[in-house]
Amino acid sequence: MLIKELLAKSAEQLREVTDIPQKEAMILLGEVLGCEMSWLLSHSDDEISMDERFTEFLKRRISHEPLEYILGRASFYGREFDVDARVLIPRPETEILVDKAVELAKELSPHLHIVEIGCGSGIISIMLALLLPKARFTAVDISSEALHVSQHNAKKQGVSERIAFVEGSYLDGVSGEIDMIVSNPPYIANEEPLGIGLSYEPSLALYGGSRGDEMLCQIIDLFVTRGVKALACEMGYDQRQPISEYAKSKGLEIAFYKDLAELDRGFWIKEKR
Ligand SMILES: C[S@@+](CC[C@H](N)C(=O)[O-])C[C@H]1O[C@@H](n2cnc3c(N)ncnc32)[C@H](O)[C@@H]1O
Repeated sequence: MLIKELLAKSAEQLREVTDIPQKEAMILLGEVLGCEMSWLLSHSDDEISMDERFTEFLKRRISHEPLEYILGRASFYGREFDVDARVLIPRPETEILVDKAVELAKELSPHLHIVEIGCGSGIISIMLALLLPKARFTAVDISSEALHVSQHNAKKQGVSERIAFVEGSYLDGVSGEIDMIVSNPPYIANEEPLGIGLSYEPSLALYGGSRGDEMLCQIIDLFVTRGVKALACEMGYDQRQPISEYAKSKGLEIAFYKDLAELDRGFWIKEKR
């Protein structure tokens, strides 16, 4: 079979799963052959024999497994992070949370202690460590499996010395002063049905409680009780009103940010001076 025939046949099989079947077929074949997509295009008339690994990749993708889990990596903020089914796949909107946290950090002193609740693959703490070279970090996750992934990613990005990884719930095991909390916690309501792609991701990373915003409220409480200077969190597009009411009931001034689709996507709170 020619490369172009194999790609066309595979793209046809992927049509139900993705809006970009040709591109995904090329990504998967490129991964198996260890070549760029441009090489596949310029060698499309070459003969190729069916590869077992490619067949397996295709089968997994046809079953709606996310491409990132099949490849074992995802890009975030222009960098590559290792991911697998132990962690949430980084979402592009979380880059806005990183930017917001950097903005807040720059209004405080450079020597901050920043704590992330629910670090997953580590993308937020790692990016912040790269962008804020004088800050130190504690990254907490309740999942020991997720912590293996985040620690590996921190090493790969050269910031493992600056991030203390803690297995625990919320701020368990995090002592001393905290200047900023940042979090992209699970915020989907427990009963909400998930799309087939999401079902591959760890449920610990998705479900936030019966309403969905329980973890966010708990984090706001910790911001108050631990005397933290700034808080930045991602949230669900429909959670602005309950979160706003909750923050106001605590006497806090809250501000919200939107994602690139113009949906409410997160908030920040600063300590009152
Ligand atoms: C939505 S994922 C975010 C992962 C990563 N920070 C990101 O933005 O891609 C939420 C993470 O919170 C963790 N988690 C859930 N409940 C937790 C808790 N009570 N305390 C700490 N982490 C928790 C999950 O294991 C998961 O890794």
